[in-house]
Amino acid sequence: MSEIGVALVGYKFMGQAHSNAYRQVARFFDLDSTPRMRAICGRDEEAVKATADSLGWEGYETDYRRLLERDDIDLVDVATPGNTHHEIAVAALEAGKHVLCEKPLANTLEEAREMLDAATTAGTINMVCFNYRRVPAVQLAKKLLDEGRLGEIRHWRAVYLQDFILDPEFPLIWRFDKEVAGSGALGDLGAHIIDLAHFLVGPIEKVVGTTETFIRERPLEPGGDETGTVTVDDAAAFLARFENGAMGTFEATRLAPGRKNHNSFEINGSKGSLVFDLERMNELRAYFADDPPETGGFRTIMVTEPDHPYVGAWWPPGHIIGYEHTFVHTMKDLLDGIGAGKSPAPTFEDGFRCQAVLDAVERSVESKTWTRPERAPRRDPTGSGDLLGRQ
Ligand SMILES: NC(=O)c1ccc[n+]([C@@H]2O[C@H](COP(=O)([O-])OP(=O)(O)OC[C@H]3O[C@@H](n4cnc5c(N)ncnc54)[C@H](O)[C@@H]3O)[C@@H](O)[C@H]2O)c1
Repeated sequence: MSEIGVALVGYKFMGQAHSNAYRQVARFFDLDSTPRMRAICGRDEEAVKATADSLGWEGYETDYRRLLERDDIDLVDVATPGNTHHEIAVAALEAGKHVLCEKPLANTLEEAREMLDAATTAGTINMVCFNYRRVPAVQLAKKLLDEGRLGEIRHWRAVYLQDFILDPEFPLIWRFDKEVAGSGALGDLGAHIIDLAHFLVGPIEKVVGTTETFIRERPLEPGGDETGTVTVDDAAAFLARFENGAMGTFEATRLAPGRKNHNSFEINGSKGSLVFDLERMNELRAYFADDPPETGGFRTIMVTEPDHPYVGAWWPPGHIIGYEHTFVHTMKDLLDGIGAGKSPAPTFEDGFRCQAVLDAVERSVESKTWTRPERAPRRDPTGSGDLLGRQ
């Protein structure tokens, strides 16, 4: 069995989620290549050293460039804010490393294009961490759609709602700074439901949207008097038309009181409907129009059977899994992809496609008109070559 030397840049929220996944993946899945957690990277030496110990890394670095010089590191995982993705990912690809990059791929479409170019030139494995594709219930939805169980798809209706910034005294963290985050709810939450829409329904042809920043000033520090300006959206909503003729609605906000992580979609086809809500992620609700009326209606499928995607590696039926498992599944497919020499979807091409929709929404907000996302050049020879993520 071969070992893949892993380095992780960023050690807070996603740093923890990714570290946990690298620790767990080989304990539950049969892998040809196992991850070896070589180094975690951050700028504060004391903090990153302590984190290396607590999260199970062999060592640490305080400059990501050091990771690129090391022969014992094969994979660089970028789990830092959006303004650093382009620099770190491109440098890692140029150094011949495989790259997993957090979402959204970049802060601008131009950056995303350069990252896709670098991935194509490098020929190493690339992947974007849109982890919600790897919820078993989402995979089941994909299977039912591929089997034609819903017929012709007519509607995609997705919301991603949180409330963590509801308090106007919540401080001006990096997520409120366009230079660092790229955008607000649109890129943070909207990117996830755009990627799910691409995965489940197909390419988006055009969009028209609106955004709002309801709380424009926030304290620089918790409890402080000095304030700074929010330069991103608090909320975004847009209509879409898909290339296959389906209609789509998307809404992303961090100002929906009571909604903690309500990432939910409904798909309506000519023969049935599917409903998913991340806060009940072990379930998929389904309606099939050809069920007998007497016993028909929406059914709730517990997606915890051993034959459901990924589930056989975990617990007996009904013994539910959670948020962190989506990252374990991501790492499993990434490691398999490295072994097979094939980038698992969502690749940087898919990341570009998502970025193109974010870009089109922002342009449509400016122009107040329907706007087409720029098309992705299909160029990555290591990619799956299929927007829907079929391997
Ligand atoms: N896949 C998901 O579900 C999901 C969820 C949350 C965040 N994210 C994405 O993950 C990325 C990180 O978000 P987070 O929530 O972990 O943020 P965070 O604030 O919790 O952690 C960011 C980390 O990056 C480090 N960092 C910042 N600038 C750096 C630099 N210039 N060089 C090196 N390290 C730097 C910080 O020290 C910190 O360790 C973002 O792109 C975000 O959109 C994805």
